[in-house]
Amino acid sequence: MNILILGSGGREHTFAWKMAQSPLCKQLFVAPGNSGTSQLATNIDIKVTDFQSIKKLVLNENIEMVVVGPEDPLVQGIHDFFLNDKDLNHVTVIGPQANAAQLEGSKEFAKEFLIRHHIPTAAYKSFTKENVEEGYLFLDTLSPPYVLKANGLAAGKGVLILNDLDEAKKELKQMLVDAKFGDASTKVVIEEFLDGIELSCFVLTDGTDYKILPTAKDYKRIGEGDTGLNTGGMGAISPVPFADKGLMTKIEERIVKPTILGLQKDNLPYKGFVFIGLIMVGNDPFVIEYNVRMGDPETEVVLPRLKNDLVEIFQAIGNQNIKNIEIIIDDRSAATVMLVSGGYPEVYEKGKEITGIESISDALVFHAGAKIENNKVVTSGGRVMAITSFGKDYKEALRKTYQNIEKLHFDKMYYRKDLGFDL
Ligand code: AMP
Ligand code: GLY
Repeated sequence: MNILILGSGGREHTFAWKMAQSPLCKQLFVAPGNSGTSQLATNIDIKVTDFQSIKKLVLNENIEMVVVGPEDPLVQGIHDFFLNDKDLNHVTVIGPQANAAQLEGSKEFAKEFLIRHHIPTAAYKSFTKENVEEGYLFLDTLSPPYVLKANGLAAGKGVLILNDLDEAKKELKQMLVDAKFGDASTKVVIEEFLDGIELSCFVLTDGTDYKILPTAKDYKRIGEGDTGLNTGGMGAISPVPFADKGLMTKIEERIVKPTILGLQKDNLPYKGFVFIGLIMVGNDPFVIEYNVRMGDPETEVVLPRLKNDLVEIFQAIGNQNIKNIEIIIDDRSAATVMLVSGGYPEVYEKGKEITGIESISDALVFHAGAKIENNKVVTSGGRVMAITSFGKDYKEALRKTYQNIEKLHFDKMYYRKDLGFDL
């Protein structure tokens, strides 16, 4: 069948790489894609939220499956758009419908869902401009650090963790009254701070049954030792070494099962990936967030470890038949390191030629913010490419990745050399 992947990052290159291996995949399209996807598929220069252009493409190219990479089109209702159109409703769309995508689109919606279904999460209250004074009083009752979350989508920048009470109040005012994150911060969730190590769990569901994919841990901060600004993710490893059988049982019983059951009880139609961000408080997992898509760069370590035909799994999701799929995972560990443009996540330059890619033989190179210009691969974004390797453990996988990175170059290239430092 003909398949369309929406998105342009390392996640989407990894999806394309995995799906292109399937005998079920005839023609593969990626919109808008990047230099990596252009080697495996046909890139189409359409925005992921331009539903009318996506419709034209799907009809012209006889596309029967659409895999949605990023959250924006899901929150804006791309799945509903397909279901409500008689020319499109036969197409399998991987990603939840808009009301279920609120799990990522609204922090308050996610918190209410978690509390309603008795899933462990941090205590919280939410505030608007109208009751900002109550927000200050609530902050007075908490001890630092203070966690403020813009309710809506804020491109990963909407969460602030502050040590100082006055600063927390100032930020709360900026978010609610001065619209620091635009519409995304007309409501703010203030949350109890949870102290512990993070990991992510990925679940595939057809809305009724589910399969758990390998765990992963990403490194979000720009600086070594987890310092400096938050980024989209500077690297990841899979599996998470401390996620042993005992912990996975807790995660499945206390979090995954009530989540999938909760979707059904609340009539939230869901066919796709549930990305559950967790923090360990002592030995107990707590949910800090849901995302309604795969993570980036977590995809770059999770999918390479999946031995199944991914198109077959997606077909089963479409047919409400995932219970009949047996997920097979590579025992090896995978590690990926993101190469970024110097200056990212703030100001950085683009258009730098990337050299050395052809000399990489024992690692996977997933392009992210990279494009082809005059037959050369050049940088076009902050996160440029992710280099994934396998090993008997994450240390060996990382060693291989770092050795391969030595062969790559672009002006002002930066990456973290300390992944796994906290394990
Ligand atoms: P989120 O976008 O909700 O995942 O938040 C971004 C990051 O903020 C998370 O990856 C955590 O590192 C941190 N974070 C969010 N909520 C909490 C919390 N309640 N306690 C401690 N850290 C948090
Ligand atoms: N790496 C975190 C995310 O994709 O949201």
